[in-house]
Amino acid sequence: MSLRHAPIAFAVAALLAPPAFAQLQPWAYGLRAYPETPDDYTERCLGNRPADCDRPGGMARDPSDTQRTLEGSEFTFTVAEITSRYGPADWFPQDHPEPPAIVARGRIDDGLRACANCHMYNGRGLMQNAPVAGLPVDYFLRQLEDFTSGARITSDPHKANGFEMAAIARNLTPEEAQAAAEYYNAIPFEKTFRVVESDTVPVFTNTINGLFLDEVDDGTEPLGNRLIELPEDSYEVNMLRNPRAGFVVYAPPGSLERGELLVTTGGEGAVPPTVDCRSCHGRDLRGMTGIGGGPPLAGRSPSYLARQLYDFKNGKRRGAMGALMIPAVLNLDDDDVIAIVAYLASLDP
Ligand code: HEC
Ligand code: HEC
Repeated sequence: MSLRHAPIAFAVAALLAPPAFAQLQPWAYGLRAYPETPDDYTERCLGNRPADCDRPGGMARDPSDTQRTLEGSEFTFTVAEITSRYGPADWFPQDHPEPPAIVARGRIDDGLRACANCHMYNGRGLMQNAPVAGLPVDYFLRQLEDFTSGARITSDPHKANGFEMAAIARNLTPEEAQAAAEYYNAIPFEKTFRVVESDTVPVFTNTINGLFLDEVDDGTEPLGNRLIELPEDSYEVNMLRNPRAGFVVYAPPGSLERGELLVTTGGEGAVPPTVDCRSCHGRDLRGMTGIGGGPPLAGRSPSYLARQLYDFKNGKRRGAMGALMIPAVLNLDDDDVIAIVAYLASLDP
């Protein structure tokens, strides 16, 4: 084999070798550490019922009928209404167009949760799922096809919502998929992150479904080689699911400068760690349309972006367009991933 073909051989090897669970970076998957006996959703979710992958206890609970309020909203809701799987409360209807039925209510008879239950009505999502606002319609539909065919699946067998997403995609009618894609495409994605370079991070907890929270004022802990995404106000995000909430990203010192170098040049050295992302994702990293164009990355959840880089690298996103990402991820190490996603999260969408 000539050296010229080495990258292809590496790429093939990456596609064939499934990653060991223990090699995943817990911070990117909303975990402090992997559970000793992780649930494996790979088999459980092969069937057609999304509800089979719905992890019990995944969202905040309060069985009481306490009415909650949120600044700027004229409504009050109970936590049960806020987290309703088939018609979640909508704090700010003025922030988005009229949602199609699949987004607002899903399909209760088939166990298909409303898209808004995870991605929210404004499509900003939370670190444990994905930001979908402002995605090009053709990109959005291609992802649903890739989830359906199995060409795209999360690298983490413990990540119930990733498997549920794939099962939801398998159940959508073409009309529902199109309506959801057009709805979310019409909503501009807004900046919600501020990136702080620091050696420490507030002591945080994690929810069962992969959301990091800073609920009590109990000091800081070393950040180490991690990137941690925390709500500005954890009560508002976990209990109220405030769709306008802001987030703080803690990244190791030097991440932004190194991230900018990697993203805009591919990095230094005889074999640079990656390639210039702007050639496909656009000059401002706000996405490029047309064949081979990549989706918008600027200002999006760094945890989500990191999981995608790992998924491409692990051969877990190998749809028709996934191959274009292989040169970008093949040689990335964990510190490169942190730097890249911290920089991307800091940009204006
Ligand atoms: C249970 C929570 C949940 C629900 C409900 C849900 N999703 Fe998702 N969605 C996810 C997760 C988690 C991901 C990320 C999956 C991954 O990383 O592999 C995702 C990813 C996506 C993506 C890919 C985004 C990107 O940038 O590539 C699209 C598109 C999408 N969802 C559309 C939908 C639509 C349409 C609906 C409603 C019909 C829906 N989702 C309902 C959890 C959910
Ligand atoms: C040769 C073109 C090309 C280059 C260069 C490229 N990308 Fe991509 N990227 C794509 C395409 C095309 C997709 C969509 C793939 C698919 O549909 O599965 C994508 C998808 C992604 C995604 C997933 C986004 C989402 O919403 O799920 C991330 C993250 C990403 N790229 C990051 C990067 C970074 C970081 C770089 C530079 C280090 C880079 N890309 C360089 C073409 C490229």
